[in-house]
Amino acid sequence: CIFLLTKSLQGSPVHFMFSLCCLVQIKDDWPGYNLDLFTYPEHYHDDIENVYIPHGVIMDRIERLARYVMEDFEDSKIMVLCVLKGGYKFCADLVEFIKVLGRSSNRYLETRVEFIRLKSYLNDQSTEDLHIIGSSDLSFLRGKSVLVVEAIVDTGKTMKALLKHVETFEPKMVKVAGLLVKRLSTMTESLTDYVGFEIPNRFVVGYALDYNEYFRDLNHICVISKTGKMKYKI
Ligand code: HPA
Ligand code: MG
Repeated sequence: CIFLLTKSLQGSPVHFMFSLCCLVQIKDDWPGYNLDLFTYPEHYHDDIENVYIPHGVIMDRIERLARYVMEDFEDSKIMVLCVLKGGYKFCADLVEFIKVLGRSSNRYLETRVEFIRLKSYLNDQSTEDLHIIGSSDLSFLRGKSVLVVEAIVDTGKTMKALLKHVETFEPKMVKVAGLLVKRLSTMTESLTDYVGFEIPNRFVVGYALDYNEYFRDLNHICVISKTGKMKYKI
């Protein structure tokens, strides 16, 4: 079940991704798309290197993840736990696709969305601990079928700590959707039930993913440039 998807852009064909059963992997040598091929906010001119995953591809993949979720959740209700801030776009689009698929298949999944805000990054470096900002009381999860929605599973430490915290409230079942999973260790994959894209260990921004709160307003997922890193460093 392996196939190669090659795209012929800028004259030379480049290997973009290949799908290994349910996994879309972006290879280590994927250079991204030239910025001139897409549109993006003018204020980020010079701050990004390339378009790593275009917005349309992100949306198409999320539609497919929504189908996996529909197939797995047997309850008619799911409790969605959106991990802020990075997860807000992914969560909104995933829930929307779940609703659309429910309408077209006559199996409507009721979704209730709750939020948890975590912070573990300064500049492009991970800090060790799980910091829950605001209330850490998740007692509304008790006995429920829960879908944790996170934009990026990086080292896996944050997700592991979050799942441990979620389990203390005794939900009926817990699944994790991660739009991006970094190819760092097998832990990141085993923690994530629904993976949008497995990516190399690179710092990416856009589609609500930030670098010190910048770039959330970029629709594509992009690689930040040296200039961008310097400009928004704190
Ligand atoms: N980009 C933005 N935020 C992140 C990343 C990343 O690559 N990894 C963990 N948080
Ligand atoms: Mg962040």
